[in-house]
Amino acid sequence: MPAARTQVAIVGAGPAGLMLGQLLHLRGIDSVILENRSREHVIDRVRAGVLEQGTVDLMIQAGVGDRVGRDGLRHTGIYIAFNGERHRIDMADLTGGRAITIYGQNEVVKDLIGVRLRSGCELHFEVMDVQVADLDTTTPSVRYGLSGDRLALSCDFIAGCDGSHGICRPSVPAAALRTYERDYPFGWLGILAQAAPASDELVYSRHQRGFALFSMRSSTVTRLYLQCAPDEDANAWTDDRIWSELMARLRTSDGWEPNVGPILQKGVTPMRSFVCEPMRYGRLFLAGDAAHIVPPTGAKGLNLAMADAARLADALAAFYQSGNDRLLDDYSARGLRRTWRAQRFAWWMTSMLHRQDGGNAFDERRQLAELEYLVSSRAAMTSLAENYVGTPFD
Ligand code: FAD
Ligand code: PHB
Repeated sequence: MPAARTQVAIVGAGPAGLMLGQLLHLRGIDSVILENRSREHVIDRVRAGVLEQGTVDLMIQAGVGDRVGRDGLRHTGIYIAFNGERHRIDMADLTGGRAITIYGQNEVVKDLIGVRLRSGCELHFEVMDVQVADLDTTTPSVRYGLSGDRLALSCDFIAGCDGSHGICRPSVPAAALRTYERDYPFGWLGILAQAAPASDELVYSRHQRGFALFSMRSSTVTRLYLQCAPDEDANAWTDDRIWSELMARLRTSDGWEPNVGPILQKGVTPMRSFVCEPMRYGRLFLAGDAAHIVPPTGAKGLNLAMADAARLADALAAFYQSGNDRLLDDYSARGLRRTWRAQRFAWWMTSMLHRQDGGNAFDERRQLAELEYLVSSRAAMTSLAENYVGTPFD
């Protein structure tokens, strides 16, 4: 079996793995990224759209800020809708000028793959059957299949950036990790539509028929979501049914409604909260969805993945520069503090805005009281705004 060597083996070419690879490259640290899907699949996968300021700043620092600076849509507020009315939360005013940027995750991934390929650093797509070993030694290793060959890679560290269904976390002895999770009894049916956004800012809507979200990707593409069953069959939803449900849940009494257009893509995502503690086992460091999953209502998953990549790159750089492993030792505890804060926020947004099947009339009135309080109290709006725009990366 041919054996190669690198300093950091990175499993997964999602936002966490690609950003980590680029930040390491900028610090002169060698890495190999192994991804089991094709390049097209990784780029075409439609997912997140909301970037915190910290994520945009990190992209600029990593040398991939040009397109997001040019094409990203800076939003200083969001709308919360209920009882047929939209209420604007002025995030910039409430947070001393902070804002979010709308820029598709697939564009982030495209930018990072582009810079990786230009740098000549190794990135392999369509690798097979990745296995990690010797995690509790100073010489961990990875084995994988590529183009019919079985290859071995020895390294100093492994970064498990392989998402919620990856192999890194399950390779850790079960007794060494503790997991915390909650499944929600609903999912989101998401669509991309060829239609100009009808609002300049996102609309999160609580409706008796269920939650709906209006978002966008560009001046010609709208992104929309509907609360549905977690195992909903997207094919059971005709375009007409999707639009009529979106209209019912999003239209407000002032006549606002999303613009209709051809549906370009649709898919269902179940909602889940999950945290694995610690985010490290020996020389394996977990980053992004491999370590934690948040329901998308708070728009935090991609941003948490980027914060992990930044923290891990700093810790590895300190180790290689001075042999100091203090930042590596702090990696998990610092990440978990950020993660739990985001978990609380995503859970709160999710429970405030979704229809609870089986919830009783009391729960419904309490949910409405919460929304009414939110939009009438500057303190409550500030709490939402400061969590939504995100705290600076540390
Ligand atoms: P991933 O993006 O999952 O990347 C992991 C990579 O590892 C994948 O490319 C996968 O193919 C690869 N992989 C898996 N197994 C293996 C293996 N065995 N070997 C090699 N490679 C492997 N977040 C936000 O911040 N804002 C939002 O607005 C937002 N909206 C969302 C909307 C939806 C509908 C969904 C589904 C998610 C949303 N998220 C959002 C969450 C966000 O998309 C994720 O948190 C983010 O993708 C995490 O990045 P990651 O790199 O950790 O994992
Ligand atoms: C998106 O645009 O895909 C999006 C926006 C806000 C969310 C989740 C997803 O909370």
